[in-house]
Amino acid sequence: MFKIQTLNKIDPDGLKLFPLDQYEIASEIPNPDAIVLRSFKMHDMELPSSLKAVARAGAGVNNIPVDKCTEKGIVVFNTPGANANGVKEAVIAGMLMASRDYIGAVNWAKTLIGEGDNVGALVEKGKNNFAGEEIKGKTLAVIGLGAIGVLVANAASALRMKVIGYDPYMSVKHALKLSREVTWVEGIQVLLSQADFVTINVPLTPETKGYLNKDKFAMMKDGVKILNFARGGLVNHADLKEAIEAGKVASYVTDFPDEDTLKMDKVISIPHLGASTKESETNCAIMAVEQVQDYLENGNIKNS
Ligand code: MLT
Repeated sequence: MFKIQTLNKIDPDGLKLFPLDQYEIASEIPNPDAIVLRSFKMHDMELPSSLKAVARAGAGVNNIPVDKCTEKGIVVFNTPGANANGVKEAVIAGMLMASRDYIGAVNWAKTLIGEGDNVGALVEKGKNNFAGEEIKGKTLAVIGLGAIGVLVANAASALRMKVIGYDPYMSVKHALKLSREVTWVEGIQVLLSQADFVTINVPLTPETKGYLNKDKFAMMKDGVKILNFARGGLVNHADLKEAIEAGKVASYVTDFPDEDTLKMDKVISIPHLGASTKESETNCAIMAVEQVQDYLENGNIKNS
């Protein structure tokens, strides 16, 4: 019997792929062969000596002590691309929220409860406070052309935006094979100087921590709108606050609220919902479970 420990709720359509005559699955289980998790932070956890694999039902692995696992011969899997469509749709929603104050408008509309026959007239009077702008014709800069960045680029292009892209780890030649909707630029300065909207879609690593900082904000146009559905740590929050106060950044939409950003004006905070769709959760769970099975039963390693 293989023992699987789940450290978060994992979509049942994935978990049911483990044949129960060969696998025991529980959130607490002694001597697990593998751990399957989502966002549980494993850094302070003692790694059981029985452990052979850790599978993240998601893309980022910054909640897993990858180096420590590797030293102990534990294989770490993730599920790149499996939730990319969910995150793409969230980025597009974030961009639309940054271009019009839908949230303010919805809250304002609620204040009209009780106005009876006056609602129509009050709507006509108040709606001008919520005039926004369209995204068609605006320039979206995509930083990072992985699975999510490419999908965002293609969707934005379908919305008739001009899409420009840059990936610090990819040549233009290779990137062209990923999406023809994007005009590739060679450097971050060229990219940021043209953008009305910026979306950052790179993993959080020691190299990318605080990537959007004072220097990068200085390269941007005044009034730029920034979308971060990748990781909060990619943005230097002290520098962001200054950039917002100086009018450089008109809006920052983040899927990673924290104490700093929640207090800032012009920030739209979403509680890490990018991949929280039934479809994404199922896709990630299936990919994670299949990888664990293939490794435990056959020794095969994919996406580690
Ligand atoms: C990811 O790393 O795949 C995303 O942050 C989504 C998530 O795990 O909730």
